[in-house]
Amino acid sequence: MRIVIMGRGVIGVTYGCVLREAGHEVQHLLRDADPRARPATTTVDLLDGREQPPVDRSFRYPLTPVTFDPETVDLVLVSVPAEALAGAIESLRRRGLDRRLLLMGGFWGSREELQALVGHDDHLLGYPIAGGRRDAELVESVLFDSVRLAPASAHTTALHAAVSQAFHDAGLTAERSPRMLEWLWVHQAVNAGIISAIASEFRPGDEIGDVVSRALASPRTLARGIGNIRECLRVVQARGVRLRHHLRDIAPFTLLPKALAARVMVLMFRKDVLSRRIMELHHNTDDILALMSEVHVSATESAVPVPGFTRDLGRARDALAS
Ligand SMILES: NC(=O)c1ccc[n+]([C@@H]2O[C@H](COP(=O)([O-])OP(=O)(O)OC[C@H]3O[C@@H](n4cnc5c(N)ncnc54)[C@H](OP(=O)(O)O)[C@@H]3O)[C@@H](O)[C@H]2O)c1
Repeated sequence: MRIVIMGRGVIGVTYGCVLREAGHEVQHLLRDADPRARPATTTVDLLDGREQPPVDRSFRYPLTPVTFDPETVDLVLVSVPAEALAGAIESLRRRGLDRRLLLMGGFWGSREELQALVGHDDHLLGYPIAGGRRDAELVESVLFDSVRLAPASAHTTALHAAVSQAFHDAGLTAERSPRMLEWLWVHQAVNAGIISAIASEFRPGDEIGDVVSRALASPRTLARGIGNIRECLRVVQARGVRLRHHLRDIAPFTLLPKALAARVMVLMFRKDVLSRRIMELHHNTDDILALMSEVHVSATESAVPVPGFTRDLGRARDALAS
């Protein structure tokens, strides 16, 4: 298959790597017009969860710029921060590459906002079950053995089949999420809640990875995070989402008493190297702050009280700004 990936972000490069390894032709649409300004290859250090136990692998990955005729492209994978989505789609539109889109990033807006942004129905929502960080020369990432994917609609049957086949070839299961946009909101709320508690513990001079490692072993911090998750989930509920439809995803944070759920989480993070590493690697403070701020703005607009989350978000902003 011919696959175009928007940019050279952590998620795009990680999936690009394994899709290429599976035999697909992968090219990247890079923002910088001057090829000398960007390295032509990047190193990818991947903790690969497609194998059990997960294995560390290293790739030299070529960031091949797009030369495909747009008519021959099967799939365009877009995984950029939500605030960059409009700009990314505009760049693709200028190149005639804005069809057959797989959008694989966070999105907190409404269905109507998404539709207005994309401008057509030839797109599918998904979400990476992967993560990590990058600098100019290196992507360090973690890959689970599945991705989340919306079901096919009348407009996306062929696109859905192409996406499922491409991921299948790369050893990844496409887990179907019937309410994908709602799932994204629930996921964002859970992330905002837990990250707020962890980020509130940053102090000037701290190594972010060290703070995260300490927090993941601390029942006290995680219990605060679970409290914040419960508050943030009420914001999602205020949008009309029935949380019982997402029980599988929220049960670890909602069914048990907070203190007990926190102890279970400590054990989970101790055992599950993929989940722990993904949290320790995620250093994109702009992305983290944007995510928490969006949830907080919605809480204010819908008059949902989120006192614990507000307190931790304030501390996190102070710590990350300094
Ligand atoms: N990293 C994680 O651990 C993780 C985990 C789960 C989900 N996610 C979600 O996945 C999405 C992508 O995350 P990521 O970590 O891969 O992001 P990232 O590493 O920061 O990469 C972002 C990509 O977006 C491009 N970009 C930024 N602003 C743009 C603009 N205005 N127009 C066009 N392109 C633009 C960047 O281009 P340049 O290369 O030119 O800078 C880069 O290629 C986000 O929604 C994030 O929340 C991330």
